[in-house]
Amino acid sequence: MLSGVMERSSASRSGSCSRQECFDTAWSDEECADINWDELGFAFVQTDFMYVMKCSLDQKFSTGALNKYGNIELTPSSGVLNYGQGLFEGLKAYRKGEGDGILLFRPEENALRMQIGAERMCMPSPSVDQFIHAVKQTVLANKRWVPPQGKGSLYIRPLLMGSGPVLGLAPAPEYMFLVYASPVGTYFKECLAPIHLVVKDKVHRAIPGGTGGVKAISNYAPVFKAQKQAKSEGFTDVIYLDSIQHKYLEEASSSNLFVVKGNVISTPITMGTILPGITRKSVIEIARDHEYQVEERLVSVEELFDADEVFCTGTAVVVASVGSITYQGQACRIQFKTGDNSVSQQLYKVLTSIQMGQAKDDKNWTVAV
Ligand code: COI
Repeated sequence: MLSGVMERSSASRSGSCSRQECFDTAWSDEECADINWDELGFAFVQTDFMYVMKCSLDQKFSTGALNKYGNIELTPSSGVLNYGQGLFEGLKAYRKGEGDGILLFRPEENALRMQIGAERMCMPSPSVDQFIHAVKQTVLANKRWVPPQGKGSLYIRPLLMGSGPVLGLAPAPEYMFLVYASPVGTYFKECLAPIHLVVKDKVHRAIPGGTGGVKAISNYAPVFKAQKQAKSEGFTDVIYLDSIQHKYLEEASSSNLFVVKGNVISTPITMGTILPGITRKSVIEIARDHEYQVEERLVSVEELFDADEVFCTGTAVVVASVGSITYQGQACRIQFKTGDNSVSQQLYKVLTSIQMGQAKDDKNWTVAV
């Protein structure tokens, strides 16, 4: 199926491109995705093509190919379905400007992170070049789905999974690397307004020695229950604490955390239970360039009471200001600085202007597609 089927009914697609046109324009400059770019959120929008590459456990990935976006065939006994042997990545492509091309943000970092995760999960992984090639091919083939500048980005989702059959507990004999993409706008329903978080001290997303430090697919569903409860209580998302002392900040459900006090920006140190975010890494570098002192260390939940500002970072989330945090169910909703003069807004602007090609990319973080 080639035509874009949207999960959200609000973002309509009238289908002005015929199937044949969609094939024909996949590699042309024509931009004909007919969706309401103003209504993009972070819901899946089906695009035209995906990239697929396969290999066996004792081989390396070799050649991949673009396929029409569609269902994949998996044996019910696959490693990914039975034992959760899978990883994912997330990165974004931005339109640089009218007719100015498309930029990826630090794709090599995603490729390297996938390799580290693959080693942890006993999977073969694509080389950095194979990963970037697959991402570029996917973006080019789905070019018409890259939103106009300022309206969002094309979110690219690389997956690596144990696709071969396995019954005894062991790595699968075959693997699939797949890249698909979806246009997205802002991650939270608040759009760019401050978000409201609740600390859950009895639910943990990772344990020392576990897989919290890699992007294993199995790290994510376990937060659904806490996230669902938080949303039903009116919060945007959840902050998780360390699973041993229940005292130190780890992450929010899909983003890293930063706490600002004066000129010092502190963020939980990544020691295996926290995902080493690429946006996190980039924001640390930008903040240091702007004369902030950035500390990667254990950050106690108590420090929230004394903070000037808190913000979250992630590929999907970008940089999100936190308006309040509720801890231990008490009426201790803490109000933080947000808005134009906040540190998070300053960092957001610098980061996104590099990502969209509006600012000089001195660090060579962007890659033209
Ligand atoms: C990303 O920021 O790319 C993520 O992986 C978040 C995702 C869980 C929505």
